[in-house]
Amino acid sequence: MSTVSLSRLDREIEELAAISAHPAPAVTRVLFSAEDLRAREWLTARAKDAGFRVRKDPVGNLFVCWEGSEPCLPAVATGSHTDAIPNAGKYDGVVGVLGGLEAMRQLKEAGHVPKRGIELIMFTSEEPTRFGIGCLGSRLMAGTTSPEEAGALRDAEGRSLDELREAAGCRGNLGAVKLSTGAYRAFVELHIEQGPMLEEKQIDIGIVEKIAAPSAFRLLLKGAGGHAGAVLMRERQDAFMAAAEIALLVEKAALESGSSDTVGTVGVVEVRPGAINSIPCDVKLEVDFRDTDREARDRALARIGDGTHALCRRRGVKIEWQVLNQDPPALCDPGLVKMVEAKAVAAGFSTSRMVSRAYHDSLFMARVCPTAMIFIPCFKGYSHRPDEYSSPEAIAKGVEVLKECLKELSLQ
Ligand code: GLV
Ligand code: MN
Ligand code: MN
Repeated sequence: MSTVSLSRLDREIEELAAISAHPAPAVTRVLFSAEDLRAREWLTARAKDAGFRVRKDPVGNLFVCWEGSEPCLPAVATGSHTDAIPNAGKYDGVVGVLGGLEAMRQLKEAGHVPKRGIELIMFTSEEPTRFGIGCLGSRLMAGTTSPEEAGALRDAEGRSLDELREAAGCRGNLGAVKLSTGAYRAFVELHIEQGPMLEEKQIDIGIVEKIAAPSAFRLLLKGAGGHAGAVLMRERQDAFMAAAEIALLVEKAALESGSSDTVGTVGVVEVRPGAINSIPCDVKLEVDFRDTDREARDRALARIGDGTHALCRRRGVKIEWQVLNQDPPALCDPGLVKMVEAKAVAAGFSTSRMVSRAYHDSLFMARVCPTAMIFIPCFKGYSHRPDEYSSPEAIAKGVEVLKECLKELSLQ
């Protein structure tokens, strides 16, 4: 039976959810918004109340540190994110951050003396809302994104990452974010599944073996505008009609990729001038495309590319194609996978090995140190929506497994 102090963790999840740009039950906390800054302050205060030291790096990744008795040994780390896309729920990322804090507090209260340090990381901008790229903090930590690439990022209002991070009190060169080799002994992330499998099969703990390969691209389409009454259909270079065909092509390429795991989503469509009696001349599309099978994903992407260029030529629409990211999948460390499984089984929980279809900061931490993920069930698999829900009991089980892993790893 779990020993997690449910009331403390549950109360904190509610408190953090109240720091939102949209009213409950929705949660919206976009990178470096007023809410994100308040959430960071709130988390820092909770960590200090528990007796931990807190530091931040130049991109705003927060580190809650518990020093070990042998401080020269690489620490063991856990963590996730507290930023939330518009109209999201309370649990995505938060369970890993507050659950990680709870696991550290429980170990401390039980008198555990870690040999190597234990660190909780709150990663900057796991969500792509502000700059169009997810996992910004962990990408910089892994060196996957260079300081120059990050420095060139602009949000929809044209504000740069440097301007926003400096206003948020995150100073220093972005190059300093990159972790040195061997900086961590291990990284273990607790997260809600964001899919229905665990709940449907009534499994307590999902043990992630592989994280799907995500990619995203932006298309800027330029046609010719004109009067909706006066320009005949055959004369048109309607940028939105090209966009509509591209969206269907994305769906077809995902459905026919040969892999049942391919998913494609056209999540952003902006049409200009956006007047009912004016032919669309400019369209921005943003497309998210993923698979556990990298080759199948890349074949489907090539098909979308060929089809898009052909249909744009046919329609007389110009196209600019910007790759936002095209990442390989990540494999979790087999030794850590076994450890998570053993801890869950020892606690009497049912388990299943699985893949993560969503991406996480673990995708990039896996490039830096042995990494594993602990999944817990969530209601109907709902996520990125206000009715996202994981029960206190499900969260407590995840925290229990995480705590036992951190305990053992911190003594190795
Ligand atoms: C993370 O939020 C994802 O989109 O997978
Ligand atoms: Mn998310
Ligand atoms: Mn998440």
